[in-house]
Amino acid sequence: MDSIGPRGLQQREGALGCPQEGLPCPSNSSELVQECLQQFEVTEAQLRQIQSSLLGSMEQALGGQASPAPAVRMLPTYVGSIPHGTEQGDFVVLELGASGASLRVLWVTLMGTEGCKIEPRSQEFVIPQEVMLGPGQQLFDFAARCLSEFLDTLPVGKQGLQLGFNFSFPCHQTGLDKSTLISWTKGFKCSGVEGQDVVQLLRDAIQRQGTYSIDVVAVVNDTVGTMMGCEPGVGPCEVGLVVDTGTNACYMEEARHVAVLDEDRGRVCISVEWGSFSDDGALGPVWTIFDRTLDQESLNPGAQRFEKMIGGLYLGELVRLVLADLVRRGVLFDGSTSPVLLSPGSILLEHVAEMDDPSAGAARLHAVLQFLGLNLRTSDAELVQQVCVAVCTRAARLCAAALAAILSRLQHIREQRSLQIAVATGGRVFERHPRFLSILQETVKCLAPECGVSFIPSVDGGGQGVAMVTAVAARLAAHRRLLEETLAPFRLTHEQLVAVQRQMREAMAKGLKGKPSSLRMLPTYVRATPDGSERGDFLALDLGGTNFRVLLVHVASGDVQITNQIYSIPEYMAQGSGQQLFDHIVDCIVDFQQKQGLSGQSLPLGFTFSFPCRQLGLDKGILMNWTKGFSASDCEGQDVVFLLREAIRRKKAVELNVVALVNDTVGTMMSCGYENPHCEVGLIVGTGTNACYMEELRNVTSVPGDSGRMCINMEWGAFGDDGSLGMLSTHFDARVDQASINPGRQRFEKMISGMYLGEIVRHILLHLTSLGVLFRGQHIQCLQTRDIFKTKFLSEIESDSLALRQVRAILEDLGLPLTSDDALMVLEVCQAVSRRAAQLCGAGVAAVVERIRENRDLEKLTVSVGVDGTLYKLHPHFSSLVAETVRELAPRCVVTFLQSKDGSGKGAALVTAVACRLAQMTRV
Ligand code: BG6
Ligand code: GLC
Ligand code: GLC
Repeated sequence: MDSIGPRGLQQREGALGCPQEGLPCPSNSSELVQECLQQFEVTEAQLRQIQSSLLGSMEQALGGQASPAPAVRMLPTYVGSIPHGTEQGDFVVLELGASGASLRVLWVTLMGTEGCKIEPRSQEFVIPQEVMLGPGQQLFDFAARCLSEFLDTLPVGKQGLQLGFNFSFPCHQTGLDKSTLISWTKGFKCSGVEGQDVVQLLRDAIQRQGTYSIDVVAVVNDTVGTMMGCEPGVGPCEVGLVVDTGTNACYMEEARHVAVLDEDRGRVCISVEWGSFSDDGALGPVWTIFDRTLDQESLNPGAQRFEKMIGGLYLGELVRLVLADLVRRGVLFDGSTSPVLLSPGSILLEHVAEMDDPSAGAARLHAVLQFLGLNLRTSDAELVQQVCVAVCTRAARLCAAALAAILSRLQHIREQRSLQIAVATGGRVFERHPRFLSILQETVKCLAPECGVSFIPSVDGGGQGVAMVTAVAARLAAHRRLLEETLAPFRLTHEQLVAVQRQMREAMAKGLKGKPSSLRMLPTYVRATPDGSERGDFLALDLGGTNFRVLLVHVASGDVQITNQIYSIPEYMAQGSGQQLFDHIVDCIVDFQQKQGLSGQSLPLGFTFSFPCRQLGLDKGILMNWTKGFSASDCEGQDVVFLLREAIRRKKAVELNVVALVNDTVGTMMSCGYENPHCEVGLIVGTGTNACYMEELRNVTSVPGDSGRMCINMEWGAFGDDGSLGMLSTHFDARVDQASINPGRQRFEKMISGMYLGEIVRHILLHLTSLGVLFRGQHIQCLQTRDIFKTKFLSEIESDSLALRQVRAILEDLGLPLTSDDALMVLEVCQAVSRRAAQLCGAGVAAVVERIRENRDLEKLTVSVGVDGTLYKLHPHFSSLVAETVRELAPRCVVTFLQSKDGSGKGAALVTAVACRLAQMTRV
């Protein structure tokens, strides 16, 4: 920051300080005193410069500028709104650091808007000097003891008390109950606390004390407590100003201006920490030799220089330094000093306040000086008073300049020509020193004439305000607990995943043997992966995923070229008559052939049909049941190749040669297998989920033959349909299942795949709203709409590159009126749901690869899994979570996941190509 250099704060001639020893003294004492005190005068121009320099520092700090370090810290406090007055309940408030060496405990009852006001009960404890300067643990233990002692006097239970911690030192807050002390100020210097979370230190001490169960819910700076405690009804009180032992202010800033916050809306209370202003020397000559001496002799030399010119801890000391100097020069007290004048810290704020108050009368002044052991002449009394006036006036005017900086900032950001605002004031300097406030007011009026400021004194030292923040924090903490309880069933343990893997293995074994099992383990009649010798042009259909596609696949030596077109299958067709559906499919093929100039050609066709089919051969498969939102009539129990051929026959004009029927898992495995011979598993995590793998033929009871392998379509979406997943299924899964077109079926799929995750999230959000945790408990109409929360939102919301504000934008597009807290919770819901899905999928893959390893009697298996599906491909963390789970559950398998590039259509064409090659060979 630019120093208010020599040009701005010019030193006045002859005001360099008191004459050096040995120099001739001015003729009379009064003149010498006046000359000395001129240093404490700050001109209006200087005040304006301070105001604008502080404003500049505030802007730099808000903008996140790190170098050069801004002179003020501008610390976000996580208090987002001024109180509505609706907060209710009993709260304990512990105040540390606001008023010097005293610690205060309060019992505050908030009655909401309707209730009458109950005066807080409080007790003050003096913190011994050795505690203020000793180990941190000792200080916090002392605080916990005071708490217990105070609570012992009240008729309160020992359980469930909620505490607000008024901790008035510069802290980096990262939440309402997380706050790291940056550095001690104001006479405290306990070891081992800087850099630590003071809330945790207090919690630990309360636990060590062990008498009461107290939850430390919020930590609040005294300025914030002062602002928040301002009685509602006097207009918006958006500034809190404290001049006590130290000085500081807070105000409501627009969140979008605060670089460290990821927020673009609303306001946040910022603690300016203006005490450190001018630590870089920005105050130039306004900083006198007395300030320098005071600073050097303080516990924190070089720090909090602005505070040391204003705060109550320092005003008495400044007066003492000036008086001592004047005595040393023989101008006061006949040149005879006293032990009081020689001992630092002997003149307190109270003494200065009394001596500075002309209304107190000369007798009072005499009494104070006598109390201080100072040998007084009548002429001295007047001079001493002038010293006090000069020191205090300067303090009030500097404070006014700083406050004016905040007011200018508010006026600027609110874009108001004239700002009407209430400033809550707190601290002993205001209480004990009425002149301070009047000078402050007068100077503010001069520096910020366009602002109508009303100063509202805080009634109980901010205790009420701290209780209000605590009430809000307690509500948020209760919401968090409800969120955690709601999401707990989604957080699977290692043991649960091991159990899923084991059950899957058992179900696989039973299914292969034809015993009752939720896994059908369907033979696919695919016995080999392509060997590269396949050639020709093939047609392929791909039905059952997000898109229905028709493809032309050209297979040449080591190269496959694909031309494809996407066609839509409207819901009324997917759920209408089977004949209509298959007629539509053939229409699409005809259209494609025409567009590709293939009309009249009868190319071999591979049909990816992504539903459970009991295959009786490569080109014959009985649809067992529809899944994933399809329910076309008269298809279940029918051979789908026959249904397709019938539709072709009805169309008369076309000739098609349907060679192979292929599940999408198989198509994916074949497609990836063309590139990588280790690919012996196919996995789909898209609209639905399923897997296939190469099983030893000898284990497949329903297919004759003992040698070689066959690809098995597990149809694992149905895993658990026999009730075996009951323990894992939550209320929300049950609701999604009940509302689906196939209740009780595809239970595993409904916990994993894209068609259902958004719905699970929607049901959780509805539940949290009904608990009042989300959206302030308001009924949100759009959340009632089924499928409104698409699974693609999970992928978008969970993307690491997205800021929380973008998450909120996505959700707002849906019509969800979120706060930032809401957005964070929605994000956590999405994470819990998608994480469980990925882990369950991983447990399934682990079961498959372990089975392959054991089949082959291998110590270690190296295998690749070909994967496809929108959820797997688009979700930012799904694939790595699947891989992580597989590593955990199948440590003896080295599993590589290969994402299919061209979809299952290519695989279907390759299966067709292999079939044609084999057919040709048998013909030869
Ligand atoms: C594609 C296949 O590769 O993956 C589809 O070609 C398959 O047939 C799909 O069903 C699965 O993904 P989604 O997300 O489209 O259901
Ligand atoms: C000191 C502290 C600050 C506090 C002020 C008033 O400046 O650093 O946090 O608000 O004193 O007590
Ligand atoms: C459904 C189908 C299955 C398919 C999977 C992935 O589970 O029943 O055949 O493989 O979805 O698309």
